[in-house]
Amino acid sequence: MAASSLRDPFIPHGGLRLRRACYNVNKQMSEESRVAIITGATRGIGRAIAELFAQGGIRVVAAGRDSRALTEMAAQFERQGKDLLAVQTDVRKRSECERLVAGAEDRFGRLDVLVNNAGIGRFAPVAELEESEIRDVIETNLYSLFFMCRAALPRMRSQAAGGHIVNIGSLASKNTFKGGAAYCASKFGLLAMSECLMLEERYNGIRVTAVLPGSVDTGFGGESPASWKVPAGDVAQIVWDVISTNSGSLTSLVEVRPLQPPRK
Ligand SMILES: NC(=O)c1ccc[n+]([C@@H]2O[C@H](COP(=O)([O-])OP(=O)(O)OC[C@H]3O[C@@H](n4cnc5c(N)ncnc54)[C@H](OP(=O)(O)O)[C@@H]3O)[C@@H](O)[C@H]2O)c1
Repeated sequence: MAASSLRDPFIPHGGLRLRRACYNVNKQMSEESRVAIITGATRGIGRAIAELFAQGGIRVVAAGRDSRALTEMAAQFERQGKDLLAVQTDVRKRSECERLVAGAEDRFGRLDVLVNNAGIGRFAPVAELEESEIRDVIETNLYSLFFMCRAALPRMRSQAAGGHIVNIGSLASKNTFKGGAAYCASKFGLLAMSECLMLEERYNGIRVTAVLPGSVDTGFGGESPASWKVPAGDVAQIVWDVISTNSGSLTSLVEVRPLQPPRK
């Protein structure tokens, strides 16, 4: 398939075959089978969450900018008989966030979980940060939450089962470091937004959880792999556990740290 363009952001691996395969799988699933949108699902933590959710029977809508990675992901899920709608999306753009949510609703008719995971890091002292870098980080890591949540809330509010929004922050949502101004500002903002949203939406049956990982072994921000870092699969497992609760309680904040980081 040719790389999908933004005019046709829905990645149809194998032409109509994937759509038909998804349809058939859907028919066999219960009407109540949950649907989750995961942003930044093309690699790293988002990819691990997508794979774990699909294993657990959740119908996944995967978003990212990289159409080649989305196509490869759609093919992998199809081979494994898992349901996936892959949608090329730049979360910095409100219209693309709205189109992503509308695509999920069109395909599956419901939306139960939204994982706002897409994120980037640009690390430099304030004096050296370009305006374009500041905008990129704040728009990707923070504006996108507003766009995605504003698009998803009407659907979640209208469902008897409500919904769950998981925002992937960072320990940098609470801690500062030199060179981290843009990233920390975006992630502090994410945590504040997440807590406000939680207070606003709990009475509408919508749970909001901020998950704040420390160093995760994904190559994020050009970092080298290291065995002491948290595996992406562990973060995925925590997100799965958080969205699997259906009691009267609400987990609003989770911090995830490497067990044994290098001693300072
Ligand atoms: N790894 C860590 O040490 C660590 C620690 C704490 C928190 N986090 C947070 O965890 C989240 C995931 O990080 P990761 O480690 O998995 O990073 P990663 O491997 O670099 O993956 C980032 C994901 O975000 C997507 N993305 C970036 N910009 C986007 C945009 N404008 N629109 C749509 N998607 C976009 C990328 O997809 P495309 O390139 O296809 O767009 C990719 O799928 C981030 O929010 C990050 O801040 C990571």
